[in-house]
Amino acid sequence: MKRDVRDELIRQAIEVRKRAYAPYSKFLVGAAVRSASGKTYLGCNVENASYGLAVCAERSAVFAAITAGEKQFECMAIATQGGALPCGACRQVLSEFNPDLPVFIVDVDKPEKIVEGNLWDLLPGAFKLDDKGKAKPTKMPRAKASVKANDGDE
Ligand code: THU
Repeated sequence: MKRDVRDELIRQAIEVRKRAYAPYSKFLVGAAVRSASGKTYLGCNVENASYGLAVCAERSAVFAAITAGEKQFECMAIATQGGALPCGACRQVLSEFNPDLPVFIVDVDKPEKIVEGNLWDLLPGAFKLDDKGKAKPTKMPRAKASVKANDGDE
């Protein structure tokens, strides 16, 4: 990933954040996802008077890309005040297409300091179906036995 490609993606996430419709939370989010074909798709959060209907910026961007016929994603930039990480629902949706997606997190008040990460760090062990519609065998990330055998009455 070239630095200028990353910086342009971040710039676009910062710009599209300004279009967020968030009159209830007042928390504006912008997301820009780059496809393998080198195109960028943008999303912002869209809230509703019926609060539960809000759609996050990250999912808006992915849905725009899918609508345009893209399924392979190279990286995503997410812009908020404070440099928030994507919510759990968005992590799951992003993971569907690239569980290792590189993500660039930008705090709009400190745009020179980018936090770079990877979706796998945010969501190891995402829910996944195989091509027969069966769930992938469950493997706990960092599994540790915590329950001991029941051999007494204590
Ligand atoms: N939001 C996002 O757009 N992305 C996230 O990952 C977390 C939350 C939005 C939803 C809502 O409009 C506002 O931020 C406050 O939760």
